[in-house]
Amino acid sequence: MDIAVVGSNNVDLITYIDRMPKLGETLEAPDFEMGCGGKGANQAIAASRLGAEVRMVTRVGTDIFAANTVKNFADNGIDTEWVLETEGPSGVAPIFVDKDSNNSIVIVKGANGQLTPEDVAAAGDAIAECQLLVLQLEIPLETVYAAIDLAVERGVPVLLNPAPADPALDMAYVGKCTYFVPNETELSLLVGRDVESLDEIRDAGAEILARSELENLIVTLGSRGSLWLTRDDEVLVPAHAVDAVDSTGAGDAFIGCFSTQITRGLSVPEALEQASLYAANSVTKRGTQYSYATADEFEEWKNA
Ligand code: RIB
Ligand code: NA
Repeated sequence: MDIAVVGSNNVDLITYIDRMPKLGETLEAPDFEMGCGGKGANQAIAASRLGAEVRMVTRVGTDIFAANTVKNFADNGIDTEWVLETEGPSGVAPIFVDKDSNNSIVIVKGANGQLTPEDVAAAGDAIAECQLLVLQLEIPLETVYAAIDLAVERGVPVLLNPAPADPALDMAYVGKCTYFVPNETELSLLVGRDVESLDEIRDAGAEILARSELENLIVTLGSRGSLWLTRDDEVLVPAHAVDAVDSTGAGDAFIGCFSTQITRGLSVPEALEQASLYAANSVTKRGTQYSYATADEFEEWKNA
């Protein structure tokens, strides 16, 4: 097994609108799409489509969405032994995407809120068999911490993508990760101030590296690319400009691809280069997981 993802799954209810509705307003929208989402599941699916062997530790509910989510994992070749069930609703994400591909996302945790440290312990051997553990913040923080502790104890490197931003994230756990991949907003929150220019981002990054034993800090910067910072190195990898249609889940495409390339032995800058291409490809298409290319589609697109 290459990658274990301990994280969320949602059903994305994407409404394509001409503009965001105002408070109290009723609007007609031209289009709607329902698909599988959730940051954990998205990252797992991207990795799996690129050919990685992926195992998902997650919880679905007992509603009409659950069976479809499990089937989606299986159809995408993901090991579902640790896809557990919780009485009640699955995670859902009502999403609005406007004409300029801006989005607003509401997350209803549902069963994702019930993924526990005990679940992580029960899946311990399955996680320890993987080359990389990938985590986000759509499950309870104590579950994320339990997964980090387990991975460290069993010698599995951890990639933590602190999304969505959570001010309660404990820096001690960030320090235990091999790769920490925030975006600008998440980085701002961690250092407690706005960071915008590259210099401000560099300074904030240096502060995080100084405050912890973290090895690799990667800040994703949207159209400006991504910045890899270690104690003695720095590389800025540019983004690839494309005509954006729907950027929902582009960050997850990036993490899923980066994780896959790292487990294949690529260097961090090489993996970032591929991740940025893969994310760019995903924003040219509608939908979250629908827009994630397979390895063949990705190669074809890169060579076109
Ligand atoms: O990162 C995109 C994801 O955020 C969506 O799939 C939605 O489910 C939310 O979790
Ligand atoms: Na997309």
